[in-house]
Amino acid sequence: MSRWKVYVTNEIPKPALDMLEEYCDMEVNRSGHVLEKSVLLEKVKGRDAIISLLTDPIDAEVMDAAKGAKIFANYAVGYNNIDIPSATERGIMVSNTPGVLTDTTAEMAWALLFSVARRVVESDKYSRMGKYKGWGPMLFLGQDVMNKTVGVIGAGRIGLSFAKRAKAFDMKVLYSDVAANPDFEKETEGQYVSLETLLRESDFVSIHTPLVPETFHLISTKEFKLMKNTAILINTSRGPVVDESALVKALQSGEIWGAGLDVYEFEPEFTEGLLELDNAIVCPHIASATIDTRTKMGIIAVTNILAAMRGELPPNCLNPEVFKK
Ligand code: DGY
Repeated sequence: MSRWKVYVTNEIPKPALDMLEEYCDMEVNRSGHVLEKSVLLEKVKGRDAIISLLTDPIDAEVMDAAKGAKIFANYAVGYNNIDIPSATERGIMVSNTPGVLTDTTAEMAWALLFSVARRVVESDKYSRMGKYKGWGPMLFLGQDVMNKTVGVIGAGRIGLSFAKRAKAFDMKVLYSDVAANPDFEKETEGQYVSLETLLRESDFVSIHTPLVPETFHLISTKEFKLMKNTAILINTSRGPVVDESALVKALQSGEIWGAGLDVYEFEPEFTEGLLELDNAIVCPHIASATIDTRTKMGIIAVTNILAAMRGELPPNCLNPEVFKK
C-alpha cells in the first residue's frame, strides 16, 4: 500500500499527527493561523486526503484544486464548513468526529450557564482591578440555578448530555426540536414543547442545534421578546443560529439578563457592542477544548483517513454513497 499524501490545515494534538505520520506523508500548517483561501487552494493540490477544520471553507473551488483527493476528514463534529453535495458530486468522501466531544461540549455549556448566572467573570475582573474593598450585601447579585427551568433547543447527542445534568440541580427540563424524542424524555424527564413555549417559560435556554438553513437566526428579535427578562441564553452550537445584532440589543436593553457564548455569527469577529457588555461571557469557541477530547478528535480524523487508504468505508463518512470498494 503506497503512502498517501495528506495535508493538515492547522496543528492538531501530537498523538494524532504521530499516528498519521506512521502511515502517510504529511504536511501541517504550523503557522498557528487559519489559511487564506488562496494558500489553501495551493496546499491541497496533489493530496490524497486533507484534515480540515471548521474554519476552512471547503467549497467546490477547494475540491477542484484538490483534484484526486479521496477524503476531507473534518476535525469537528459540525460540518457546515463543507459543501457535502459538491463533495458527493465529485466522489470525494467527507468525515467528521462525532461522539467524543459530546460531554465536553455539554460541560462547557454548564460552565457558561453558571458563570453568567453567578457573574463569575465580571466579579473576577472587579477583584483584579483592585475594586474589592469588603463583603457587600448587594455585591454581584446573580441568579439561582437550582429548581429553575432549563430549555434545551436541539435534542441530539450534545443536547441530551447537557439536559441529563439538569437533574443534579432539580431543574425542570423543556426541549424543542423538529420532532419529539422519546429517548431524550426517558433520560431527562424533559417535556417536548414548541420553541415559543420554551422561550416563554425557561430561565435558561441552551442551544444545541446544527447550523442548517432552517436554524439560521432561529433566535432573533421576536424570540428575545418572548424570553423572560431574567433569562440567560447559552450558545455552544454555531454562531449564526442566533441573530447577534438582535442579541446585543436584547442584552443592552435588559430584555434578557445575560448570555454565555462560545460561538459567533461572524466568527472570529464580534458584533459591535458585544464586547462592551458585562452581562455576556464571550469564549473563543473552546467547548471541545480539553486535552483528551481534542486528542481523540485528531485520532478519529486520522482513523477515517487510514480506513479510506485501506479501501474501507471510513467509520464517520458523511456521504457513504460515494464509497467505492
Ligand atoms: C465541532 O466539533 O463542531 C466544534 O464546534 C468544535 O469542536
